[in-house]
Parts: sequence; C-alpha cells; structure tokens
Amino acid sequence: MKAIYEIRRLRETAYTPLGSVWEGEDAELIERMLNIYPRRAPRRILDATVNEGRFWRGSTRRVVGMDIDCIHKPSIVGDNLKMPFANAAFDVVVYDPPHIPNQGRDRSKDFNQRFGLIVKSWKDNNYSLSHTFPMFLSEAYRVLRQEGILLCKITDYVHNHRYQWAHIELVRAAQELYFCPCDCIIKIRKAPIIDPKWKISHHSRRQHCYWLVFRKSDRCE
Ligand SMILES: C[S@@+](CC[C@H](N)C(=O)[O-])C[C@H]1O[C@@H](n2cnc3c(N)ncnc32)[C@H](O)[C@@H]1O
Repeated sequence: MKAIYEIRRLRETAYTPLGSVWEGEDAELIERMLNIYPRRAPRRILDATVNEGRFWRGSTRRVVGMDIDCIHKPSIVGDNLKMPFANAAFDVVVYDPPHIPNQGRDRSKDFNQRFGLIVKSWKDNNYSLSHTFPMFLSEAYRVLRQEGILLCKITDYVHNHRYQWAHIELVRAAQELYFCPCDCIIKIRKAPIIDPKWKISHHSRRQHCYWLVFRKSDRCE
C-alpha cells in the first residue's frame, strides 16, 4: 500500500514541474520542494531558524522549530551552530538565516524581529553572518540522515559599498562539507529592501533571493 502511495506521489510531482523562478509564498514553495527533492516522504523536519514559523502557515506537517531567540517561542530554543539533536535525526533541515548585516536598517520595517538581527556580526566579519555558514552546515550534515535534504533561503545584499555574495559563500561551504548542491530557485520579493537614508545607488536593488537545495549524498538524483 505504501509503495502505491509513493508511486502516485512521484507521478503527481512528475506532471507538475516546478519552475526555477517562484513568485508565490515561501510556505507554498516549501511544500512543493518537500514533494520533489526527498527520495521518500519526509517525516522528521527541522526548521533551524523558525522565528514566527511563517514557512509552516497552513501546513499540516509536524516540524521541530528551533530558534536562538526565545521571544518567538520555538519548540526548541537553541543555537543551530551547536544543535541539541542526535546524528541522523532528520530527513529535512530548513535554514533561513538573518540575511542583512546589523548595520543596515530600514526604519520602515522591523528588521530586528523579522530578520533575526538579534545575532550581531562585527567589522572583522564585514558585518555579515556568512562566517557562521561552515559551522551551521557541519551541524546540519550531522543531524541529517544519509540522502537527507537541506533547504536554504539565502539573500545576497550590498553592504559597505560591496556586493556580498552570500549564496555563493553558502554553496562553497556546503561543498567543502560534502553536501551535493542540487538545485537553485530564484524567489521574487514583492518589494526590494530600501533604506530611506540611501540617496545614491551604484547597485541594483535586491528583488530576489535564492532557495538552494542540497542533499547529503554524492549525487542529486
Ligand atoms: C530570517 S529569520 C527566519 C524567519 C522564518 N523563516 C520565518 O519565515 O518566519 C532568522 C531567524 O534565525 C534566528 N537565528 C539567528 N541565529 C541563530 C542561531 N545561531 N541559531 C538558531 N536560530 C538563529 C533568529 O533569531 C531569527 O528568528
């Protein structure tokens, strides 16, 4: 019976291909990805940066939500650089780290709450949090079972008059740890991030971010 459901699931996903550009909500995209990438229906899912859990709105999936900030009342308050889980505990890990440095604030948005800027970065790290990628990835690798999937929402940004290539840094760090980078979906933002104090621009405004898909395996398919 299980096999019949699995075949039906594979057929359905085969006939509704997922485009590489997504304009809808993250929650809907995640559901699509969870039906496409895992080799078998995932049961144990960790959201390692759950915040208010927007990714799971309307979802019936059981998700362990972890966040370093207890204000969001996650199921586990913890640091995703040192996870309190056993090896191979999850089929899927989802990661949406704070993606703008603590220096750039748009006064019209509550970036501290929304983007998790509670975690500070320093000048030595160019105010970015990319230096935490290897530590996070190493923990994600450990807690994922073999063939498990890592879904990462990553935004590049401009800071210090430079383009910060966060998604490339993440892919490089993941490859170093033997994750297989398998797919990349561009998610369109409804409104670009704009700080009212910016008067001149030498870069285009970020109107998209990336959903990067990794597998704990040596092959994607
Ligand atoms: C961009 S928000 C995630 C938003 C979430 N995906 C949503 O849509 O509701 C980033 C979250 O990561 C959390 N965070 C930052 N560093 C962390 C760490 N080392 N371990 C666990 N959570 C962390 C922040 O507290 C923040 O809530």
